[in-house]
Amino acid sequence: MDIYPRADYGSLGRYLPDHSPIAFDLSDNRNLWGAHPAALEVLASAGSRTASEYPDSYAERFAASAAARLGVDAKEVTTGPGGTGMLDAIMRAVAPTEMRYLDPGWPPASMLAVANGHRPVPVEWSEGIDDPVGFAGGGPCIVFLANPANPTGETVTDDWIRALLAHTERVGSVLIIDEAYGEYSRDSDDTAPIAMALGSERALCVKTLSKAYGLAGLRIGYAVASEALALEVDKARGPFMVSSTSTEAAAAAIASDSPWLAETVARSCANRERVSRSLRARGYDVAPSAANFVFVRVPEADLDEVARKLERSGVRARPFRSRSPTGTGLRATVGPWEVMQRLLDAFDLVASDRSSRPQDERLRGG
Ligand SMILES: Cc1ncc(COP(=O)(O)O)c(C=O)c1O
Repeated sequence: MDIYPRADYGSLGRYLPDHSPIAFDLSDNRNLWGAHPAALEVLASAGSRTASEYPDSYAERFAASAAARLGVDAKEVTTGPGGTGMLDAIMRAVAPTEMRYLDPGWPPASMLAVANGHRPVPVEWSEGIDDPVGFAGGGPCIVFLANPANPTGETVTDDWIRALLAHTERVGSVLIIDEAYGEYSRDSDDTAPIAMALGSERALCVKTLSKAYGLAGLRIGYAVASEALALEVDKARGPFMVSSTSTEAAAAAIASDSPWLAETVARSCANRERVSRSLRARGYDVAPSAANFVFVRVPEADLDEVARKLERSGVRARPFRSRSPTGTGLRATVGPWEVMQRLLDAFDLVASDRSSRPQDERLRGG
């Protein structure tokens, strides 16, 4: 057998979402209110030392700040280059197996699974919701749960996650609870997923600074897990993966008592509800999102055309296709209201264009 190229990488390609210039890019769920001010202060004053010296091996200064904020031990925090880097390291820490996830799901999770030798197994969202144990499967595997989910923003209850976790432990699986959007779905003092991770030897809660903290460009995230599991992830992840600048800026942001985080999260949630109501009032089928984005279901046959028309109005939303009937549509990041108004105007233009063609009325409603 030829060792190169890897046969199991045949289905993989680059992940290259469209980021060409456009007036309103609502396609990547970054924070449209900008970046955490405490991080910006660090960036503004970063001297040549942050460029010339090596960073902490495992972003320890950030891990210490995150641990203090969460009231956990720093050894229970593992860090990496964004949630994406965390998921990569976690998946590498587990010997090749299946990765079971709810479909519709976030495409890079499956890509990272394949890259680390795992076989992605989608389970249709409503089937999984009805039966968490069936979702998790009968044998040891990785169970990946994004809560809120991406692209729909839907959530599961903590009791549902507890049922999943109990089963995970029974069969010797590893449960990844990805709370990339948790700040938008939980009160700031709700630490339920962290408590679940720490109450188990086989579960992790993954968090990122890319979304609510507005630091997507700095590439930093973390996971909370038992000390033993966090060590396994660090072994798989390797040293020096997070830059000094990112370590220091993220440490300052997570330690900060600035009201910026709570205020921008509250604005995002209020605008999410308002834009969801406005779209529903126009007849669109909008998923009940608890994240910083909305998901508008659009029939597969119309998806590309609607996405193109929105782009022509200067608004980019990300199209998603899924085997699951509820997972095909356009995902748009929530931002300041002027931006949301542009999204509504763009959808109105699509609708007025289509209403001159009666056969296309199926786009609305349903
Ligand atoms: C569900 C989910 N998990 C993890 C991430 C990771 O983001 P990052 O690598 O920027 O931290 C994202 C980003 O879109 C996401 O949607």
